[in-house]
Amino acid sequence: MKILAIESSCDETAVAVVEDSRILANVIASQTRIHQVYQGVVPELASRCHIEYILPVLEEALQMAKCAPESLDGLAVTRGPGLIGSLLVGVETAKALALSWKLPLTPVHHTMGHVHAIFCHLPGGQSRLLEIAPEKEEATFAQAGSEADSPASRFTYPFLSLVVSGGHSHLLRVDAPDTMTVVGYTLDDAPGEAYDKVAKCLGLPYPGGPAIDRLAPEGNPKAYALPRPVLHAPHNHFSFSGLKTAVVRVIEEAGGVKVFRDSPERLADLCASFQAAAVDVLLGKTEKVMKKEKLKRLAVVGGVACNRGLRSAAAERLGDSHLVFPPPILCTDNAAMIARAAMHLSPLSQGEMAALDARSGWTLPERD
Ligand code: KG4
Ligand code: ZN
Repeated sequence: MKILAIESSCDETAVAVVEDSRILANVIASQTRIHQVYQGVVPELASRCHIEYILPVLEEALQMAKCAPESLDGLAVTRGPGLIGSLLVGVETAKALALSWKLPLTPVHHTMGHVHAIFCHLPGGQSRLLEIAPEKEEATFAQAGSEADSPASRFTYPFLSLVVSGGHSHLLRVDAPDTMTVVGYTLDDAPGEAYDKVAKCLGLPYPGGPAIDRLAPEGNPKAYALPRPVLHAPHNHFSFSGLKTAVVRVIEEAGGVKVFRDSPERLADLCASFQAAAVDVLLGKTEKVMKKEKLKRLAVVGGVACNRGLRSAAAERLGDSHLVFPPPILCTDNAAMIARAAMHLSPLSQGEMAALDARSGWTLPERD
């Protein structure tokens, strides 16, 4: 089955063509540099940017996949959750393509899509990334990511998925490709949001996750005693805002951010201590829920799954055979994961397609 998918829920405009589990094209235009000056995504700018880039990204994906629309079996699109103005660009483009190419269209839940990233096989050279620049400089799609096998063959249902990104933090019980139940979530900030906020306090560039991840290995993770919020609470949920506040307090008590900006050692120590606390909370809670749910396998997905500290600590605590992370280019938002998820869902009828809307607050079913 060959599916072309569109993803535009936040600040990446992405189109992919996937045949069964093999990615034929995975094209992403990232707006990170546009939003960097504001230290966070500006929704109005994001939707304008999606409008500008959706057709060039589509064209690049079709060329890369050497794919004529007639050879496709269907289309898929992220319906939600996400920023409404951003989602609408993808949904309306997908509807227009489905009508003109006379193809079935499948709406996909973004979080469900992240989980399906683990079932994608990425042959070398099939990903392209465009970093959109604010000053309209000439930019071209550059190769991104290397050959990565799909771990699907050694991963069977049911399993637990830890979905960690800038907007989401979920523990999902995955019983089948289309059956995912929320068994845990964040009570306040998502982990990526905590990374981004802490980085902002330290004067590091947006997005904060990669910046902190780069500095953390150079520091001492025990230098600052930071809390592990709700780790030992009896429920399955996360909380990250207390950890962020604790970092703010450390900065204040040390005499302000300048102290850290002037001392690379102190900066690295604080990054290492924050990362150790965040990873401890994520993995500690996840291990407890795996025990409660009697699940032996874990898939860690979403932008924060790029984190090297999280990857190595998870491998150490759980062992490689029960653990899977997608390659970094498929951890952050992409359309390949949406195409792969759509293969397990029902497409809309013609009538339903005409009425398809975007759903910014779409949720997956929760455990009663
Ligand atoms: O999945 P994603 O691209 O978008 C959302 O759906 O939110 O995730 C983006 C988030 C950002 O908060 C970013 O700081 C975080 O993922 N992130 C990381 C790393 N790379 C990206 N966090 C920690 N370590 C990283 N290496
Ligand atoms: Zn995402």
